[in-house]
Amino acid sequence: MPLTFDSAVSLPAPTTNIKILSRKKQPRFEHNAQAFNVLEVGKPLYENIKGKWNESHFLTPNPLILELACGKGEYSVGLAQVFPEKNFIGIDVKGDRLAVGSKRAMQLDLKNVAFLRTNIEFLENFFEQDEVSEIWITFPDPFNIKKRTKRRLTHAHFLEKYRSVLQKGGWLHLKTDNRELFDFSLESLQAIGVTDLVHTFDLYSSDLYHEHHGIKTRFEQIFTEKGFPVHYLRCRFL
Ligand SMILES: C[S@@+](CC[C@H](N)C(=O)[O-])C[C@H]1O[C@@H](n2cnc3c(N)ncnc32)[C@H](O)[C@@H]1O
Repeated sequence: MPLTFDSAVSLPAPTTNIKILSRKKQPRFEHNAQAFNVLEVGKPLYENIKGKWNESHFLTPNPLILELACGKGEYSVGLAQVFPEKNFIGIDVKGDRLAVGSKRAMQLDLKNVAFLRTNIEFLENFFEQDEVSEIWITFPDPFNIKKRTKRRLTHAHFLEKYRSVLQKGGWLHLKTDNRELFDFSLESLQAIGVTDLVHTFDLYSSDLYHEHHGIKTRFEQIFTEKGFPVHYLRCRFL
């Protein structure tokens, strides 16, 4: 039956919508429980992977690249295709989103990408000092309300974690549409003393565009369609 205005106004109560949502999430959680490329609570490697990503999971001695706040993992999967000689780990706290990236990686038979479900707060529980060679942060939540700025993934509190797991001279990249978050990030990176910091407020019309690799994340797609410019920076950790 087509959805008319009358049927739309008599749509089921919100509680039913919540059930529909969980019905969509449930198969994704079931996928994650079985998927070899998803590490989450309850799986044996989850507790023992620190310092052993290449030895115990990827089985190749390649550089490890993290995508933080990866959502559905478009960037991790995209980069893994472009750089088969590197290993990629998409990290997000939301399992239903990670499942989408995991399935895509399986369809493409990509062995150099994995997904880790955790709060980034606990990054050091999963990576040894100097284990990571590069970090991407793609369209993180802006947390623009003052009380929440500590949750920004470029807050000094998080930057210290990145410094701990990143090799000396390792790159950090950030893409966002949010100017307030971007300005905050530039300031907090300068304050902790990074090097080789370059940035643009409009990646798509910048000399740095080649660093985009032609891969759009889901949020990047949404914001660029609305005409928002993409802000981008990269820097090295000492
Ligand atoms: C706006 S979405 C962006 C997703 C994806 N990078 C993209 O561009 O489409 C932000 C993501 O960050 C995740 N996130 C925010 N804070 C986090 C944290 N502290 N630890 C893990 N994930 C976090 C959220 O779950 C969400 O999936």
